Amino acid sequence: MYEIIRELEKRRAAARAGGGSRRIEAQHAKGKLTARERIDVLLDEGSFEEWDMFVEHRCNDFGMAEQRIPGDGVVTGHGTIDGRNVFVFSQDFTVFGGSLSEAHAEKICKIMDKALQVGAPVIGINDSGGARIQEGVASLAGYAEVFQRNVLASGVVPQVSLIMGPCAGGAVYSPAMTDFIFMVKDSSYMFVTGPDVVKTVTHETVTHEELGGAITHTTRSGVADLAFENDVEALLEVRRFMGFLPASNRVPAPVRPTTDPAEREEPSLDTLVPPDPSKPYDMKELIEKVVDEGEFFELQPTYAGNIVIGLARMEGHTVGIVANQPMVLAGCLDIASSIKAARFVRFCDCFNIPIVTFVDVPGFLPGTAQEYGGIIKHGAKLLFAYAEATVPKVTIITRKAYGGAYDVMSSKHIRGDVNYAWPTAEIAVMGPKGAVEIIFRKDLGDPEKIEARTEEYRRTFANPFIAASRGFIDDVIMPHGTRRRICDALPMLRTKQLGNPWKKHDNLPL
Ligand code: HXC
Repeated sequence: MYEIIRELEKRRAAARAGGGSRRIEAQHAKGKLTARERIDVLLDEGSFEEWDMFVEHRCNDFGMAEQRIPGDGVVTGHGTIDGRNVFVFSQDFTVFGGSLSEAHAEKICKIMDKALQVGAPVIGINDSGGARIQEGVASLAGYAEVFQRNVLASGVVPQVSLIMGPCAGGAVYSPAMTDFIFMVKDSSYMFVTGPDVVKTVTHETVTHEELGGAITHTTRSGVADLAFENDVEALLEVRRFMGFLPASNRVPAPVRPTTDPAEREEPSLDTLVPPDPSKPYDMKELIEKVVDEGEFFELQPTYAGNIVIGLARMEGHTVGIVANQPMVLAGCLDIASSIKAARFVRFCDCFNIPIVTFVDVPGFLPGTAQEYGGIIKHGAKLLFAYAEATVPKVTIITRKAYGGAYDVMSSKHIRGDVNYAWPTAEIAVMGPKGAVEIIFRKDLGDPEKIEARTEEYRRTFANPFIAASRGFIDDVIMPHGTRRRICDALPMLRTKQLGNPWKKHDNLPL
C-alpha cells in the first residue's frame, strides 16, 4: 500500500515540477509566474481541484517519445473565486513552451464541456508557443476543438482570457472569441503573424511589443480590454471582475450588500454640465458619483475613449454602464466606439445584466475616414445591439442627444424602459447652429440674424420638454437625484419579460 501511495506522490511531484527548475527560473526571470502560481493567486486558497495531472502527449516523432511530462503543458481544473465556482486552464510555458498538443487541447475541452454543463465561467490563462510543432495537424485539430467550444459557450457562460505570454498565429482566435481579454504589459503579446513574417511580407520593422503587446491592443486595436503591470495585478483584478458576473445565462449575477444608500443625493451633479454647451465635462465623474461606493470597473478605458463602458453595482446588483464621454471627440459616435459599445451591450444582454446608459452625444463623427471605414455598418452595430437587447434598459440624457445618435443611445423607441433627461438635455435633430445654417441659409450673410435665429432654435428645441411632451422621456429629473431615480427603476424592472421573435439567430451587421 505504501508503495502505491509513494508512487502517486512521485507522479504528482513530477507533474508539479513542470519543465524543471531551470525553466521555472527562466519564467521567473521574465517577471512571469508559473502556471500553478497563477492559479494560486487567481483562486480562493486551497480551492483548486486539478484534473488530468497525469495526461501525457501521444507523439513519438522528433524524439518526443522520450519527452513526456505529466500534464502536458497545461494545468486544468476548477476552484472558487469568492466562493463561486470557476473552471480554469493555465498553460505551462515551462513544458514544451506551453505549446498545444492534441492531449493538451483535450484537457482544455474537458473543463470547457463541464463548465457548460454546470453553468460556470471559464478562465483561460494563455502562455504558449502555439501549435505543438512536433504534432502537426493533430495540434491544429486540437485548436479547432477549443474554438468550437468557445463558440458554443459564448453567451452561456462567461469566458475570460488572460494573456500572460506569447499567443500567436491561429491561437489568438480562442481568446478572441471569449468575452474579455486581459493582458500583462511587457510580457504578453498577441498577433496573427509575428515580426519576422511581417518583415518578409510587408518590409515593416516592428517589435513584438509594438506589433501585439498589451499597450498596442488596449490603445490601437481594441482587441484587449485591459493592460496590467504584472501577473499578480492582472490575476487579482480578474478576481474582482468575476464578482460582477453571473455564473451563466441561467442565474443572476451575485448581489453584494452595500452600505451606500439608494437615496443618496449628489448636489455636485447639479453643476456638472457647464453652461456653455461646447464645454466638455468628465462623464466618469457622473458614473462614479451614481454607482454603489463609486466602484466602476471600466473596460477598454484607453481605447475609443469617446464612449465609456464597464460594470458597476446599484443597490448591490450588477449593471452595465454605457456612456458618451464629452471629453473625447465631444462624445461623438465613431466606428471604434460603436463597435466597442455594441459588443458590451450584447454581453450584458446575453447575461441578463441591466444596462444604464448616460447620453451626451452630438451625433456621428463626420469625415471621409469614417465613411470609407464603414461607419454606416459599424454604427448600425450599436443600434442593433440596443434594439435587440431585452434586459432592463435605463437611460439618462444629461445634455446633447442629437439626430440618429439620439435614437441609437437606448432611446424609448428602441425599447428603453425608463428614459430620463436632466433639465440641461437638448434633444433635437441637430445642434442649433447647424440647424439654423440649413433652414435659414439665405440669411447666412447676416451674422446678427443668424445669431438671433440660433438663439430662437435653442430656446425652442434645445431642451428636454418637447421629447417629454411626446412621452419619449418619462420624466425630467434633478441631476442630484439621479442615483435614487435609477435605484427606483431597476428593482421595478427586475421582473420585466420581453422576448424577440423566434429566429435561428439574427444577422448583426458585421
Ligand atoms: C513545440 C515549442 C513550441 C512549439 C516553443 N517550444 N514553441 N515546442 N512547439 N510551438 C519550446 C521550445 O522548443 C523550447 O523548448 C521551449 O518551448 C521554450 O521556447 P524558447 O524558444 O526557448 O522560448 P522563448 O525564447 O521565450 O521564445 C518563445 C517563442 C518561441 C517566441 C514562443 O519559442 C517560438 O517562436 N516558438 C514557435 C512559435 C510558433 O511558430 N508556433 C507555431 C505557430 S502556428 P526547450 O526544450 O528548449 O525548453 C500555430 C498555429 C495555430 O500556432 C493554429 C491554430 C488554428
